Amino acid sequence: MSPVLIGRSAELRQLRAALAAAPGAVLLGGDAGLGKTRLIREFGRDADARTLVGGCLELGSDGLPFAPFTTVLRGLVRDIGIEGVAGLVPRGDTGALARLLPEFGEPESDAASGEERARLFEVVLTLLERLAERGPVVLVIEDAHWADRSTRDLLAFLIRNLGAAPLLVVLTYRSDELHRTHPLRQLLAGLERLERVRRTEIGQLARADVAALVTELLGQTPPPGLVERIEARSEGNPCSSRRCSTTTARWRASCPSRCATCCWRASSGSPRRRRTSCGTPAAAAPASSTRCWRRCRGSTTRR
Ligand SMILES: Nc1ncnc2c1ncn2[C@@H]1O[C@H](COP(=O)(O)OP(=O)(O)O)[C@@H](O)[C@H]1O
Ligand SMILES: [Mg+2]
Repeated sequence: MSPVLIGRSAELRQLRAALAAAPGAVLLGGDAGLGKTRLIREFGRDADARTLVGGCLELGSDGLPFAPFTTVLRGLVRDIGIEGVAGLVPRGDTGALARLLPEFGEPESDAASGEERARLFEVVLTLLERLAERGPVVLVIEDAHWADRSTRDLLAFLIRNLGAAPLLVVLTYRSDELHRTHPLRQLLAGLERLERVRRTEIGQLARADVAALVTELLGQTPPPGLVERIEARSEGNPCSSRRCSTTTARWRASCPSRCATCCWRASSGSPRRRRTSCGTPAAAAPASSTRCWRRCRGSTTRR
């Protein structure tokens, strides 16, 4: 992992502005690997706010009811204890939270009744609001494209009923997973119409940012043409850029003469792609570098 966050200053500014204007919500979309989690982590680290994070799990259409909220509550119990949580809910009655975490007792029934759900929703909202009254709170729900129905319902309830306390809800999701009938689509469309909600997309990294990332990961200036190749292959996706750079670094380490051909080819992935995205068919490459490549490839494969 690159220890430095590359680029993303506009996105960080947007998030900081949303926190300053809280209560509100940010719906942050973007393809897998574009850096949503990394962005949120960097934002949370520097934000003058308590950050609570829960992720949705890829468990099929039914999922695990309220899974990210269970994670959030577990983290909060770790931070302020059961008593601390009880102090934030009306009359200290944490019974409704049993649906989320066994530390709060046994749920009244196996499946939540409408009344029980309504109580749970109210308690979670009050809990978060009262916590935010003590200081700004960022609630991050990651990977909402995997959210089960209960989680989607609770999210909609929270965002629609935000009070006055500085509570910012940040929801991340993979835009490339939202097919035409995906249930999250409807939720997002409804929420983005609300005044205090901002929907935004994280984009691909610009070439200068890819160059900075590759340099950071290689620990040195990349050989000529490498950044362009990695940018073309990764389409500015930091995750793919990182993978290409790591492969390149491995090959560079195994190539005694550290020749550019080896780096280029290594950064281009599979053997077939190696030829096409390298732009130079193996047969047309200078004999010495082809020999070098074969030697280095052999030495890496043998490891
Ligand atoms: N702006 C960035 N600078 C440096 N590394 C990044 C950046 N964005 C993402 N990464 C790295 O790329 C990888 C994928 O990012 P991640 O945040 O998990 O993507 P997503 O959550 O959108 O699927 C991680 O290793 C992350 O550290
Ligand atoms: Mg992520």
